[in-house]
Amino acid sequence: MTNQQDKTIIITGGAGFIGSHVVRLFVTKYPNYRIVNLDALTYAGNLENLRDIEKSPNYFFERADILKTDEIEKIFSTYQPDAVIHLAAESHVDRSILSPLDFVYTNVIGTVNLLNTAKKSWNNNFANKLFYHVSTDEVYGALGETGFFTEETKYDPHSPYSASKAASDHFVKAYFDTYALPIVISNCSNNYGPNQFPEKLIPLFINNIIHKKSLPVYGDGLYTRDWLYVKDHAAAIDLIFHRGNKGETYNIGGFNEWKNIDLVKLLCKLMDEKLRNRAGTSEKLITYVKDRPGHDRRYAIDASKINKKLGWKPSVTFEEGLSQTIDWYLQNEDWLKHVTSGEYQNYYELQYSKRDGR
Ligand code: NAD
Ligand code: DAU
Repeated sequence: MTNQQDKTIIITGGAGFIGSHVVRLFVTKYPNYRIVNLDALTYAGNLENLRDIEKSPNYFFERADILKTDEIEKIFSTYQPDAVIHLAAESHVDRSILSPLDFVYTNVIGTVNLLNTAKKSWNNNFANKLFYHVSTDEVYGALGETGFFTEETKYDPHSPYSASKAASDHFVKAYFDTYALPIVISNCSNNYGPNQFPEKLIPLFINNIIHKKSLPVYGDGLYTRDWLYVKDHAAAIDLIFHRGNKGETYNIGGFNEWKNIDLVKLLCKLMDEKLRNRAGTSEKLITYVKDRPGHDRRYAIDASKINKKLGWKPSVTFEEGLSQTIDWYLQNEDWLKHVTSGEYQNYYELQYSKRDGR
């Protein structure tokens, strides 16, 4: 999609972690675009993430569930969007193990519902239209000690979450092949940064260190993830949205692999410095606990396609990004307090109370 003319874009999941960074980037960088944030505000959606831009004249919020066809059709009919950037999803692997059907509903059926609505609203006139699906590297399964996921790697998902994202990717591709709906997909590695819900490794451990709670490392702690700063993911989405080839997939990654235990030790060191703790204080909180079932050993993205074709690369080092992330959480303790009250406590109890000891 070129960025010459005005356009209206529906961004789903815009109140969540990555979605809020994408909404902010588009609202501020493209004042001539109308940005409609369509979000159901589940436990993971939080309008506090967008306070700084909510009064912008080109920003609109619609609370709606992507599973409810009538709600979605009404929003399409009101705004007549040129494009959809679809991020709304159930996104946490551990929750998918507790409750797989929620993931099938939102990630698979919700996505198909949106595809149908876009197709119907565009009335088979697809010129200058785009359905952009934001997906994950977890669809590719797990790597051994070496190798990388490329855009050609066969799908081999292992968790209910990754299976649901793989299914949604297949539907998006099927709408391109069957109906010529213009689509693009990106598959990204682990994101971190401000506004991430503290169920994911980095913000959960920051919150626990603040409250001197134990740091539950799954299994032997030698699982490897490829970490990317969320604003770099948003920048990649911007590039792919405007310059990606229709029908294609782009892998996005940080060229930044860390074994969980090494990452946790770095996080502990930075937290001790920032909290003016004695060195080694936070590391004492590390507790090895029962492993996640079906735990993928290693993820690593080969991001050379987006690098070569679109000139994208990460803009911050991991140490810089992690330091900025910790500062954000320390400066936004109210945000943390709000999202960790109520339902979060029940989730934490359910997820971690039976995990102690291996
Ligand atoms: P998140 O859980 O922080 O946010 C998800 C958002 O979707 C929330 O605002 C929630 O309210 C909304 N939502 C959920 N169900 C909905 C429904 N039925 N209707 C409308 N809105 C609904 O997720 P995130 O980490 O920001 O991930 C966003 C997307 O990026 C997801 O599709 C995820 O699979 C993908 N992704 C995430 C990562 C990562 O590391 N977090 C990496 C790669 C890809
Ligand atoms: O790879 C992209 C994916 O990254 C996204 O698609 C998902 O939405 C996102 O949640 C993330 O999935 P992971 O399962 O890799 O992220 P999580 O933060 O849950 O876990 C990161 C690693 O840390 C993983 O190996 C499990 C481990 N872990 C996690 C938690 C929450 C622990 O050891 N202890 C924990 O308490």
